[in-house]
Amino acid sequence: MALTNSARVLHGLSLKNACFQLGVIPNRTNSWWSNVEMGPPDPILGVTEAFKRDTNPKKINLGVGAYRDDKGKPFILPSVTEAKKKMAAANLDHEYAPIGGIGDFCTLAAKLAFGENSSVIKDKLNVTVQGISGTGSLRIGGAFLSKWFLPSKTVYLPSPSWGNHTPVFKHSGLDVKSYKYYDPSTCGFDAKGAMDDISKIPEGSIILLHACAHNPTGVDPKPEQWKELSNLIKRKNLFPFFDMAYQGFASGDVNRDAFALRQFVQDGERAGAFSLVCADDDEVKRVMSQIKILIRPMYSNPPINGARIVNTILSDAALSKQWLTDVKVMADRIISMRTKLRDNLAKEGSTNNWQHITDQIGMFCYTGLKPDQASTVIRNVERLTKEFSIYLTKDGRISMAGVTSGNVEYLAHAMHQVSK
Ligand SMILES: Cc1ncc(COP(=O)(O)O)c(C=O)c1O
Repeated sequence: MALTNSARVLHGLSLKNACFQLGVIPNRTNSWWSNVEMGPPDPILGVTEAFKRDTNPKKINLGVGAYRDDKGKPFILPSVTEAKKKMAAANLDHEYAPIGGIGDFCTLAAKLAFGENSSVIKDKLNVTVQGISGTGSLRIGGAFLSKWFLPSKTVYLPSPSWGNHTPVFKHSGLDVKSYKYYDPSTCGFDAKGAMDDISKIPEGSIILLHACAHNPTGVDPKPEQWKELSNLIKRKNLFPFFDMAYQGFASGDVNRDAFALRQFVQDGERAGAFSLVCADDDEVKRVMSQIKILIRPMYSNPPINGARIVNTILSDAALSKQWLTDVKVMADRIISMRTKLRDNLAKEGSTNNWQHITDQIGMFCYTGLKPDQASTVIRNVERLTKEFSIYLTKDGRISMAGVTSGNVEYLAHAMHQVSK
């Protein structure tokens, strides 16, 4: 049994003291928490749990979206190893970071996103804070919009979107709605559906966009389509909120992957993930002061180690170059696995059109196994798992990072067997 900090404050007593004073030992039948219901397992992390229990030596985990090398092992970037050595030699202290995180990290992260020569950076129009991870940064953005974005309290997500977007924004106090994005008949971008839906969104609403390597579908609009989206979103006076979780990881080129964000900025939009673009210096100061007020009671200030690693890399020309190479190595491996998977499906004799495997980009591939019948998708996925020990989420999404030279033939064979 645990006592939370807030309960401790409420009682002004430790748990031991509280039980002693009340003369009760909390148990299952006489407990403060007997009303707490069992929650469902996380749909993605549950896949890994099931994978771990499987004893088949051929098993493959394509559920979780974390990069793996061609042997299926976690990959420590050489640039990160070097940065850690430099940091150890510098014998840095362990003081608190400021509420908004390490200043140099914020500057470098904003430059990476907006581009060195962006007018946003040159004119210092961005408010950038270090969040705790991508999720934490979205949560800060959600909290800020919920409190200070006056025109609307509704955020529109692409359908489908990353599973955590809805809870993150709901926890932030926003309503969540969706716009069409993915076309199951082509396993590609539903440009017409998206444009139609977005044109019906009430003016002044918030719209979330995945900057690149859309999760879960791997489907990104083409540059021309981004331009059309930017025009429409500007015309409709919607507030674009970019989630850029995979810059560099989609194409292997950090500038190419930032195209959409930079196009919107160039078109005169206000874009934000954990960076917010403001009108002038005075607005930057006011917005920053309010973001700090939101962060302080959430987690006070962010951890310093990860930000220092990023800092060490991005402030050193040789390490930055190494990092760009590391990113490309990862992106290229994934791109080559897409080609191999498609080639092997053809070798298996599959007559299905698998072009979307190579058209899609980034960590994830929406395999599209009979996507027009939801129940069939589940049946296909279940067969992959039950008969071939291949683990993936129920929507047919596979993490390309889990595909290797060693298992791609087996995966293609299994996919062919369940889809022929
Ligand atoms: C689109 C998207 N946004 C945000 C995140 C969260 O990033 P982090 O793991 O750093 O919290 C992810 C991670 O899966 C993601 O795919």
